[in-house]
Amino acid sequence: MSEQIRFDNRVVIVTGAGAGLGRSHALEFARRGAKVVVNDLGGSGHGEGNCVKAAEQVVDEIIALGGIAVANCDSVEQGEAIVQTAVEHFGRVDVVINNAGILRDTSFQKMTDQDWELIHRVHTFGSYKVTHAAWPYMREQGYGRIINTASGAGIYGNFGQANYSSAKLGLYGFTRTLAIEGAPKNIKVNCIAPVAASRLTEAILPAEVIAGLKPELVTPLVVKLASEQQAETGELFEVGAGWIAKLRWERSRGVKFDPQAPLGAEAVVAAWADIIDFTDSEYPQTIQDTLLPVFNNLGIEPSL
Ligand code: NAI
Repeated sequence: MSEQIRFDNRVVIVTGAGAGLGRSHALEFARRGAKVVVNDLGGSGHGEGNCVKAAEQVVDEIIALGGIAVANCDSVEQGEAIVQTAVEHFGRVDVVINNAGILRDTSFQKMTDQDWELIHRVHTFGSYKVTHAAWPYMREQGYGRIINTASGAGIYGNFGQANYSSAKLGLYGFTRTLAIEGAPKNIKVNCIAPVAASRLTEAILPAEVIAGLKPELVTPLVVKLASEQQAETGELFEVGAGWIAKLRWERSRGVKFDPQAPLGAEAVVAAWADIIDFTDSEYPQTIQDTLLPVFNNLGIEPSL
């Protein structure tokens, strides 16, 4: 067994921590010595209403365990206020777990602007606001850990979730860029796509599956990614029911056409089998990996 992961003297913000995954994360960080900001708006799974009790109940649970926590009931859209709670009570912020979420599932044909906007406001704008407010503190102290919560629906698509899918995969792009910008300041940013029983999934998945999908089986990955020992940054992990795996991009070798000659769609069709052939594929990781083949095809030596 490796050394125990501890968060003594670390301040952890968990958004949407009044229930489900967030509650599980908040309790575990507190058990491991963190001072926790338990944020939750306390709204419905569709984003309506507001009940301050959700966050306070989890704070009570943490205190009953002998831990340290404070409640915050702002929406993640007011990220500054959440970070302000951390700074006022505990003087710093070391870890942000962007977890708060809602669903507005409906087929694309029936989707309204409100369905689209609300999902993006909570998931992408909310994650941006909380992280943006914490960022200067993390930069200043030369330390930070951020975990964003994506979804399989974002990675693979899912019927009725065009709004949610686009927001969730957006958080992966957000993770990649913040990982690059945070690297010089020891800010590690990673992303999870969880599967767990919660009010968001209990109506969708069969009861026997729900019984095995304990949020507590997702939290250990989040704790690991938020730890001082965490080395990787910008990565995406799938996690659920005790299964944890890492995802990466795969790209075919592709086909190079002469950039000086006219390129017709028929030539693309003729080369199609090779364009989509994953034999001898590559695993691109950086923006340079997408620019290099383009530069190479132009015969230009890249100075990236
Ligand atoms: P949940 O509904 O149990 O918990 C989400 C919490 O976020 C709720 O307590 C809710 O009040 C809070 N919240 C909603 N809007 C908020 C806002 N504007 N500001 C602050 N808090 C807000 O759901 P669950 O399943 O625990 O979801 C946690 C995260 O995991 C979400 O981002 C969800 O999209 C994501 N996720 C969950 C999956 C699952 O299988 N449960 C699958 C993929 C992603």
